[in-house]
Amino acid sequence: MNLISNESLQPFDFILFGGTGDLSIRKLIPSLYFRHCEQQLPEDGRIIGVGRTDYDSDGFRNMLNESVREHIEEADFDEGSWQAFLQRVHYCAVDVSDVGSYKPLIEILAGREEEVRVFYLSVAPSLFTAITNGVHEAGLITEKSRVTLEKPLGRDQESAEAINNSLSAVFKEEQIYRIDHYLGKETVQNLLALRFGNALFEPLWRSERISDVQITIAESLGVEGRGGFYDQTGALRDMVQNHLLQLLVIIAMEPPVSIDPDAVRDEKIKVLRALKPLRGIDAVENSVRGQYKAGAYGDGPVPGYLEGEDVPDDSNTETFVALRAEIGSWRWEGVPFFLRTGKRMESKTTEIVINFRKVPHSIFDTADGMSTPNQLIIRLQPEESIRMRIYVKAWGDDIQLQPVYLNLDFNDVFQKRKMIAYERLLLDVIRGNPTLFMRRDEVAAAWAWIDPIRQAWEQFQYPAKGYTAGTWGPSAANALISRDGLRWNED
Ligand code: BG6
Repeated sequence: MNLISNESLQPFDFILFGGTGDLSIRKLIPSLYFRHCEQQLPEDGRIIGVGRTDYDSDGFRNMLNESVREHIEEADFDEGSWQAFLQRVHYCAVDVSDVGSYKPLIEILAGREEEVRVFYLSVAPSLFTAITNGVHEAGLITEKSRVTLEKPLGRDQESAEAINNSLSAVFKEEQIYRIDHYLGKETVQNLLALRFGNALFEPLWRSERISDVQITIAESLGVEGRGGFYDQTGALRDMVQNHLLQLLVIIAMEPPVSIDPDAVRDEKIKVLRALKPLRGIDAVENSVRGQYKAGAYGDGPVPGYLEGEDVPDDSNTETFVALRAEIGSWRWEGVPFFLRTGKRMESKTTEIVINFRKVPHSIFDTADGMSTPNQLIIRLQPEESIRMRIYVKAWGDDIQLQPVYLNLDFNDVFQKRKMIAYERLLLDVIRGNPTLFMRRDEVAAAWAWIDPIRQAWEQFQYPAKGYTAGTWGPSAANALISRDGLRWNED
């Protein structure tokens, strides 16, 4: 499979707007450092931080020196390589909304019009248009330029369209890379490998064999210092519109004819368009909203969402969502897809559970009455693994069946450092491979499904039900799934 090629990179300038921000320090700079250590960055590959803070390049390097190390495991950190990496790093202080202030950037890029140029926008979406206009008016967009945007891309379909329109006024669609970092996770790509690299699963991958699919992205952290942003966003926009739907799409898509970017994305969008709309009362009945209350983890108590910084006392913003979705297609008719995500849940767990149908007629005695069917459990976090739950005969003189797991733990198999999702994605942008990025129509289709759900919540003033931090969310989420005679996989 050639999702990512090993061909060497061309010389590049990676211009990191929001270079002093949290994401840069925690993920983007460490990702580039790791790729530097793997000798994948060409000698003439520069990283140019851009921000409002008045650093010079040395000042920026010092700041990175002090702040980035704690985000790299000690065993993976090599002082010599880090210092060599820092030599690639430069900085330009720019007030992005003042076209006159782009001068330092113009100067540092002068004479490098033939090199790959990546504008990476790790900034609030409200700055996207100012930056794309700014680099356009400064004459910085070349043939080999690309722009990369972090989610959220808008707040609804309309605002996403407005952002996309302003992007497409200065960049061609093939120059635009919309990041969903879940697509950079190893196991997400392994899902493609599992489904389309093995003939075994294809005959089973349909409603005749699968009873339901559950996708959970549970986080143990709360909204941390992001209360102001989060309160305006909520879990539906923050996690469902992008990460959860992307996982659903990869599970449900038809085999693409090739691994070419558009062949893959053409199949993905068909799933988004086939999602049955959830509108009005239907949306309310098939969804649960929750908000965490104070609770405790092993190491002590944690405050509730409403006690968080910058969160209004009467906020009704959801920190948890559960949904029952259906896909109208021959393959999936009648198979419910249960999606759930939440902050401050029992543990950080991301997993996809495929529940297969039970045997039509059981001839065996089992301790559990064969109440749980065969399952394929694909785990993305905390560990990356694939497990298959099957029934076997327990050793002994009677025929008693018992469920056991066939276990594939990727740590054991590959025994090497797991790449940060961004490592792959950043290299793909520099290489010019958009397979793992969202096309404009995909983003629009995802919002088109999400918007009516949010509108229904507003129309019916659907409250966010409280759940105690450290649990699996409000009990209403159990009621939602038990209507189908099922329960969430929480083993
Ligand atoms: C981000 C969300 O996109 O994903 C955050 O904005 C969330 O709220 C994060 O915490 C989760 O990512 P991961 O990779 O830690 O599961």
